[in-house]
Amino acid sequence: MERVEVGLVGLGTVGSGFFELMSQNGNHFASKMGSSVEIVRVAEIDTVRAQKIVPKELLVDDYRRVIEDDEIRVVVEMVGGTTVAYDIIRAAIEAGKHVITANKALLALKGAELFALARNKQVELKFEAAVGGGIPIIKVVRESLVGNRIDKVMGILNGTSNYILTQMSEKQLPFEEALKQAQTAGFAEADPSLDVGGGDAAHKICLLASFAFGGWVDYRRILCEGITSVTPGEIEFAASAGFAIKLIASAMRVDGKPSVTVFPALVPDRHPLASVRNEVNAVYLECDFLGPALFLGRGAGAKATASSVASDLGDLVQSLVLHARRGGYPFDPSRELDLHPDQEMEYRLFFHFITENRPGIWAAVTGCLAENGINIESVHQKWEDRSKPSDLYVLVDEAKVGQASKALREASAESGISTQSRFYRILPL
Ligand code: HSE
Repeated sequence: MERVEVGLVGLGTVGSGFFELMSQNGNHFASKMGSSVEIVRVAEIDTVRAQKIVPKELLVDDYRRVIEDDEIRVVVEMVGGTTVAYDIIRAAIEAGKHVITANKALLALKGAELFALARNKQVELKFEAAVGGGIPIIKVVRESLVGNRIDKVMGILNGTSNYILTQMSEKQLPFEEALKQAQTAGFAEADPSLDVGGGDAAHKICLLASFAFGGWVDYRRILCEGITSVTPGEIEFAASAGFAIKLIASAMRVDGKPSVTVFPALVPDRHPLASVRNEVNAVYLECDFLGPALFLGRGAGAKATASSVASDLGDLVQSLVLHARRGGYPFDPSRELDLHPDQEMEYRLFFHFITENRPGIWAAVTGCLAENGINIESVHQKWEDRSKPSDLYVLVDEAKVGQASKALREASAESGISTQSRFYRILPL
């Protein structure tokens, strides 16, 4: 039986989860793979903490000891962040080792370089755990759907935001309280602005879109709006109109070019993504032969993410034992994809104007919409008391995002209409 030696770097939440999985299910894994797989070295700077998890003889406090070990063929990078993790992955690839990571932030920023380097060195850089936690979506997009043209990828890819929006909607919990609960549960990022600002979802859709469309999507060009300004009033109105508000990471082909964006959207109740609750992640795909498909599961947490790391390890073990290179997917990291301009995207829209309560306000709002060719479907005003600003909720027919931004800018420049006014996209069914 061939043996594959693995080095693990980093024993945080996911690293410990992976070590636990291999300790608990290692035999099961080996018998399925027909080879023995062993974690032979673990690098962690906090050795005191690490000794509670890992036998002392496996532990080192410097990742270079893992890289320098010629026996180790696979390095599992679980450090996170974009600095040391970058050095570890580069050094491992340079040393001719295969790498498994869950580091979406690093891959979104440096993926073009690291994937090209891995290709050059004829090793694999695998990252199932970076997108959708335990959902095996990268494998699906890279391998299972190879016979399809993927036209659309829509994801709920950030568990923290989805948890917050669900709690605000179902339990009327304030934003801050729901965020605190997500942090306590351990699925929020160390910097939660990445969760609620949409950056984490953007990292993930950058990777999904690159592999779905076969070239590199530059993360810095992804327009990204988070959920920090979503109000309980908007959630309540949207629910009464038959929608759930969700943070959507979207990648689709429009006129031959990918449009890749992250935005909070109104999702019709009958849409498959509307019922995805709390920290659960989901990816909805549309392909030319498969048609629509939904993948759903735990998007964060030690165990679910460890499951994806093990899936990557299983693939690598298979190719190492068979002495065959896998992953010959049609993806070229050096070909940067030109993105479709977001301003040209068309959606039904939901405007929330925050206005003074006085004669002529409706006329000002509807005038700005009409001047920009935007057709109103319905208007609802939430009126509490004349002395307070009122919320004017307006659902409109399909319009370009550029038209909507212009109408919003013009309306917000009118006296009595707040610059905090905004609009959301409505996903089609
Ligand atoms: N912070 C992420 C989330 C977890 O809330 O989904 C891992 O990607």
